Amino acid sequence: MTNIEKYIEENKNLINDFIKAHFDKKVCDKKFPHNKFSLNDAILYTLTTPAKRIRPIILLIAAESLGFLDKKRLLPFASSLELIHSYSLIHDDLPAMDNDNLRRGKPANHIVFGEASAILAGDALLTEAFVILSDKEYTEGFDPKKIIKIIQELSYASGISGLVGGQFLDVNSFGAPIGFENIEYINENKTASLISAACAMGVILAGGDDSVVGNFKKFGTYLGLAFQTIDDVLGITGNKEILGKTTGIDKANNKYTIASDIGLEKTYELINKYNEKALFYLNKTGAKSDALIEFTYHLTNRIN
Ligand code: IPE
Ligand code: IPE
Ligand code: MG
Ligand code: MG
Repeated sequence: MTNIEKYIEENKNLINDFIKAHFDKKVCDKKFPHNKFSLNDAILYTLTTPAKRIRPIILLIAAESLGFLDKKRLLPFASSLELIHSYSLIHDDLPAMDNDNLRRGKPANHIVFGEASAILAGDALLTEAFVILSDKEYTEGFDPKKIIKIIQELSYASGISGLVGGQFLDVNSFGAPIGFENIEYINENKTASLISAACAMGVILAGGDDSVVGNFKKFGTYLGLAFQTIDDVLGITGNKEILGKTTGIDKANNKYTIASDIGLEKTYELINKYNEKALFYLNKTGAKSDALIEFTYHLTNRIN
């Protein structure tokens, strides 16, 4: 394992432990005698399956790069990003959206629990993120103004002007060659917004000023654009077993991606351009950014 891989693994374990401990305290295991599963089962099935956890990790590294070293206090806020991301994946796979049946190496949530329960498991995850963000136990000791700011960043990035807005355009783009700029606009909203919010949240909690938040958000936007573009490339060139999800789904949905629009070679060049822009803005933050630079390259070279 390289240093960055070890670093990622350590952070991932912290996040997984927090998620487990938080849901151990929740009572959502009620079910009727004829039921095979509870809401808890449907939530944890997707949430606790091993995954990259990049959004919470980005929050932790961003805060650390500005000298905030008490990770334990950041874990609830970092994990709230993973709850929202996991909800978005459950809904993304539904027959009404991407109609995908494999996620994180296992049958998609709706395949196991049915569509109605999968929709509700997603709804529960989305809502629980904000329960965590406003929980007295987790927010104690932080300036309430910072908590309001991070709630605003996350809600904004998750909603109309971010993830949901992007997903709406994404599913309504099927079948039409919408062109490069529109595809990039979708990617910025459906994926980069949450990654950018992860940066903003880490910086705000660490006490960074508005200009640092602004530059970090731009870093997150370009990192997110690269991340989604690589995801679409892997959907074409990747291995189903390693990816843990179906390859060729965009083609099956007649969905135009950057890779299908401009070809693989130009797409690789574009990913490098996104990374350069990301690192340009990271440099402007003045943060101690070695880990973030390594993390950026680590994501570019990923195979899942
Ligand atoms: C998949 O996200 C969806 C995209 C936004 C590209 P990840 O690649 O972060 O998926 P997990 O969380 O590791 O399963
Ligand atoms: C990623 O959607 C964005 C969200 C889920 C919000 P995709 O449809 O491109 O991602 P995968 O390939 O299914 O993970
Ligand atoms: Mg999708
Ligand atoms: Mg999908």
